[in-house]
Amino acid sequence: MNNSQPDTASRIPGETAPLLSALDGTVNDRPPFWFMRQAGRYLPEYREVRGRAGNFLDLCYCPDLAAEVTLQPVERFSTDAAILFADILLVPHAMGQTVSFEEGRGPVLEPVKSVADIEALALDRLHEKLRPVYETVRLVSKSLAENKVLIGFAGAPWTVATYMVEGGTSRDHFQVRRWALRDRDGFGLLVEKLIDATSAYLIRQVESGARVLQIFDTWSGVLAEPAFRRWCIEPTREIVARVRAKCPKTPIIGFPRGAGPLYRDYVLETGVDGVSIDTSLPVTWAADKLQKHATVQGNLDPAALVEGGAVLRGEAKRILEALGDGPHIFNLGHGIVPQTPPEHVAELCDLLLTWRRGV
Ligand code: CP3
Repeated sequence: MNNSQPDTASRIPGETAPLLSALDGTVNDRPPFWFMRQAGRYLPEYREVRGRAGNFLDLCYCPDLAAEVTLQPVERFSTDAAILFADILLVPHAMGQTVSFEEGRGPVLEPVKSVADIEALALDRLHEKLRPVYETVRLVSKSLAENKVLIGFAGAPWTVATYMVEGGTSRDHFQVRRWALRDRDGFGLLVEKLIDATSAYLIRQVESGARVLQIFDTWSGVLAEPAFRRWCIEPTREIVARVRAKCPKTPIIGFPRGAGPLYRDYVLETGVDGVSIDTSLPVTWAADKLQKHATVQGNLDPAALVEGGAVLRGEAKRILEALGDGPHIFNLGHGIVPQTPPEHVAELCDLLLTWRRGV
């Protein structure tokens, strides 16, 4: 037995968490569900805690409050999983880059522009700076029921690098795409550092109590095929291998958003246990090409959740039926948006909790 795994012996034996059985390849009567960005501004109870915390980074680094908002959607909607409340940009922050979140503007970073800037990023204080996050993981995993799981996460190196190089969210990602094409060795140094930091960060999350991991590659869809293989598949494969070596029992879900037909090679070559599909990927294609190799997670349009009513129910059923014969975790194709009415989320959860395959 791997002694870096959390002490599961102290958990009450009994029902396996539905999310874990789905990731193990079981076809459940009803698929387990959770939602990307399930904790956030669309929830009044989140806005209340966020107001108390001050700014967004303060909230991420305050274990008591971060644990509270992590648990809010589980309590309100009975989701099968909690996702750690943190952000993919805590890793560059912990490597010494200047990162802030500005109201209405999103993340702002002091851009990494040269190999010298990459060399200035340090890994030696990573765990010290991220310790509050590990504490959040510990607090949440202590208070979750045995049949619910805490999902830890990190951004994939390519997606995190887009923010580090562009200095924030970018419309076209031109700076980072040009650097990756022009100077594979130089840009490769940044990706190497991110592989080291991300693997170490994810391993610590598991050691602190996370039972599943998700790797978000939000911007993988902007790359041409060779670049996708080099900057998305290869680094993710390396992270999966390093995490598996230490935590062989922890399932890993990959989210190469916008990968299109390259989703298949991503699954086969990275070795992920689960794959989160974006809204644009046809569910019939996913059922045919992906589901025999990995558990498929997804892929409701977040706009359907804003719309609600018959539109929402119709779209949810279309996805449930198309993916119902293989291992499936119901989720969105991307994160919940702030204008989503919480009542629509509750309506969807009622449907998901009472759904039975083939009935
Ligand atoms: O429930 C959860 O999923 C909460 C944990 C979480 C957050 N960010 C909290 C957050 C997770 C898993 C993320 C991942 C994340 N962060 C991604 C990958 C997933 C995706 O959505 O594509 C990315 C690209 C980021 C970077 C990021 N963080 C951006 C671009 C922004 C600004 C845009 C926005 O949605 O506000 C953030 C801020 C952020 N991260 C918020 C939350 C709840 C909003 C901050 C606030 O309260 O004002």
